[in-house]
Amino acid sequence: MAISKKVKAALNGASWVRRMFEEGEELKRLHGEENVYDFSLGNPNLEPPASLKKALKALADCPVPGMHRYMPNCGYSDTRKAIAEYLKEESGLPFEEKHVVMTVGAAGGLNVVLKAILDEGDEVIVPSPYFMEFKSYIENSGGQIRLVETNDDFSLNLSAIEKAIGEKTEAVLVNSPNNPTGVVYDQESFEKLGELLKKKSRQLGRNLHLITDEAYRRIVFDQIHLPNAFCCYPHTIRVTSHSKDLSLPGERIGYVAVSPLCEDADEMIAAAVFANRTLGFVNAPALMQRLVAPLQKNSVNIREYEEKRDLFYNSLTAFGYQLVKPQGAFYLFPKAPIEDDVAFVKELQSKRILTVPGRGFGKPGYFRIAYAVNRKVIEGALPGFKEVAEKYRAEKK
Ligand SMILES: Cc1ncc(COP(=O)(O)O)c(C=O)c1O
Repeated sequence: MAISKKVKAALNGASWVRRMFEEGEELKRLHGEENVYDFSLGNPNLEPPASLKKALKALADCPVPGMHRYMPNCGYSDTRKAIAEYLKEESGLPFEEKHVVMTVGAAGGLNVVLKAILDEGDEVIVPSPYFMEFKSYIENSGGQIRLVETNDDFSLNLSAIEKAIGEKTEAVLVNSPNNPTGVVYDQESFEKLGELLKKKSRQLGRNLHLITDEAYRRIVFDQIHLPNAFCCYPHTIRVTSHSKDLSLPGERIGYVAVSPLCEDADEMIAAAVFANRTLGFVNAPALMQRLVAPLQKNSVNIREYEEKRDLFYNSLTAFGYQLVKPQGAFYLFPKAPIEDDVAFVKELQSKRILTVPGRGFGKPGYFRIAYAVNRKVIEGALPGFKEVAEKYRAEKK
């Protein structure tokens, strides 16, 4: 029985995150789970808010008749209305229920949007380092990923984006707060990106799309102001989920929101609803749609992630690692002290520390730490990080 050539090639280049996660499982089997410091996967360790669990129990005790049936492919009206209200308040733009399509997480949402906009061979520009799944999602819809460099501090490199835009470009896909770097793009970057996309759209005689992956939107630190891309460019489509802010990644609940300023918003939404159905998602999970509707302003305690960021960042810089201080998400992306990021990650593994080589995100020479873990895992790993840094420092002398 043969599998597709494309899938075979993809399997051979298997995700570094999954590879490290699996190697970690083996280490845990050998040494015991508590003796392995696993920073491979961005899997939130915090429990969902108590209010969600209470609502879940209330729904189980007093079920709404028909609550397990099929529904419109765009999702429940009440949920979309609640999200539209939230988006209206956040942006000041006239969002309505019709601008929101409920999806199977942000991953489902991205596939829906890409299916809705891409024709065979269309390009999607993605700043690198990047979340590797983007490539597969774009290719799922016949598109091609076009990677562009970011600046040294991982901020958007607008001239690289400008140079990459051409006849084949259909969209620019940005992810902020960013996985793997934790960097948050500032207001000026979004404004300039908006201006650039307006200029290029005029030149091309068609509107380019800006897709913003905001899966980590609520996980920001240092009381920073988060820019709103909807206010910077009219043809913006936001994709997000409650996987991280409400710690519900296994429940697969997210949404796509199309800007009300988008000239062809109605057609775009019709295409997204069609894609949601025909990609086989049909609709987002029913139970979760009911539960998240009233929780639009809630989140897990973000301060806990911020404290872990501080502990990790301060310790690693003290040990001599070079890294940009992240202002969001739950990742650190330090430079590896040696050129070969895979060899470095292996060295950390010898201390039972699991991280992911930067090449897994299009950036060799770096490594990613996912710190959505209990504090004691970080504390347990710090001596190992120190020893490895000291070893390489001694070798350099
Ligand atoms: C940047 C980014 N986008 C999308 C996703 C997928 O999120 P979801 O679990 O909501 O599908 C992830 C998950 O880790 C992510 O890091």
